[in-house]
Amino acid sequence: MAKNKTEYVCQSCGNISPKWMGKCPECNSWGSFQEEAVNVASKTRPKPVKADRNKPQALHEIIYEKDTRLSTRIREFDRVLGGGFIPGSIILIGGDPGIGKSTLTLQACVNMSDFNPLYITGEESPAQIKYRADRLEIVGEDSAGLKVYAETNLESIASAINREDTGFVVIDSIQSIYTDRIESAPGSVSQVRECTAYLMQLAKVTGKTILVIGHITKEGAIAGPKILEHMVDTVLQFEGDHTHTYRILRSIKNRYGAAGELGIFDMTSNGLTEVVNPSDIFLSEGQNDNMSGISIVPTIEGSRPLLIEIQALVTDTNFSVPQRTVTGFDMKRLQIILAVLEKRLGSNFSRSDVFVNIVGGITLSDPAADLGIATALYSSFSDTPIRENTAIIGEIGLTGEVRSVANIDRRIAETEKLGFGSVLIPQKNKDKLSRDDYKIKILSADRVSTAFAQLLG
Ligand code: TYD
Ligand code: MG
Repeated sequence: MAKNKTEYVCQSCGNISPKWMGKCPECNSWGSFQEEAVNVASKTRPKPVKADRNKPQALHEIIYEKDTRLSTRIREFDRVLGGGFIPGSIILIGGDPGIGKSTLTLQACVNMSDFNPLYITGEESPAQIKYRADRLEIVGEDSAGLKVYAETNLESIASAINREDTGFVVIDSIQSIYTDRIESAPGSVSQVRECTAYLMQLAKVTGKTILVIGHITKEGAIAGPKILEHMVDTVLQFEGDHTHTYRILRSIKNRYGAAGELGIFDMTSNGLTEVVNPSDIFLSEGQNDNMSGISIVPTIEGSRPLLIEIQALVTDTNFSVPQRTVTGFDMKRLQIILAVLEKRLGSNFSRSDVFVNIVGGITLSDPAADLGIATALYSSFSDTPIRENTAIIGEIGLTGEVRSVANIDRRIAETEKLGFGSVLIPQKNKDKLSRDDYKIKILSADRVSTAFAQLLG
């Protein structure tokens, strides 16, 4: 049988099909199949690892150097990495165009000048990079070790990485580089996959850290997402919306640290600066005005506690099917909370539009926010403000019970630190508190109804 010269590759998940399809059966995205040349590279891929270096070893005989992490000297960045870059690792940092990936990595490169960073750019000219660095006022003696190389060909990039005496390499961006061994266009799934696989081997063999910048597709995933995520050691996501100045760097996967760790930055005219007190930015100005529909929730993101403001608005609907709109929270979770309120508290939302907004553009996935959301909803529904100066913690179960949450002491401590007068926590958590010397007043509830009785006067 004649061999196919081309195949169709889903640009969203990398699924391969011999013929074009309108909808990908793997990831259900529409119109994502693109014709690409059949990948012949795996046969011709050079083997950078020498056979004799790669023998099975007894676990107790394996030696590695401790504390060899490369620090970016940006505290929030280091925190997300688990303390800095590990030599020989490959890191993928993804985010929307214009969010600040190049700015952050350039700032890190200048700080890491001692490791002779090599900034490989496929998107901007060296002059544009210099212009940005001048704007950031980071060029000087400190940046003497940093070199910029404008190149998009993987083979040229690889020989530069081998040749240069560098410990840290940035590829900006993976979508702009290509290898000669594949015919498809730069940015296609096969190119991105092949280039990343090659860079990964290069990092392992040379012991140089490689940071790869990747753009995010409109669906919110790094192009060729799943394929890349398992290849690299660390996946970081840089997020934030363009209407706000702060940005969140999040570790999605980290072989050398905790996943889910957060770093928070502010985009200023001097580039990205660290945010010292992150809870401040997630609390809006209106929280003390005693308005209905506003609650404060101490969440845990990664290993750090963060106070987040939830705003809910419940209004009479003008539609036959009432609207449910949420930003920064899971719609299904909202529907469950509404169902619990309807069934267990008899409040009827069927003639109301419901809007929920998590202030500051952060996405909440912590179940401990349930009770805060329910209280904000009920507060707006009944037009009663929530007890002043009080934060709310608790997960809600389907029977209307308030379930205990993890890390209660850290949540309470952060609430206390920010000067709140009281905090309502699940009864089960209160029974098992490891400290009893909190200055903050601790209320507790085991059911949504008893929580509301204390929170909505
Ligand atoms: P950039 O790092 O080029 O984004 P990415 O590499 O993720 O595409 O960031 C570009 C944006 O950052 C641009 O909208 C301008 C803004 N910016 C500042 O606000 N302050 C600065 O000091 C710099 C360099 C950029
Ligand atoms: Mg960029």
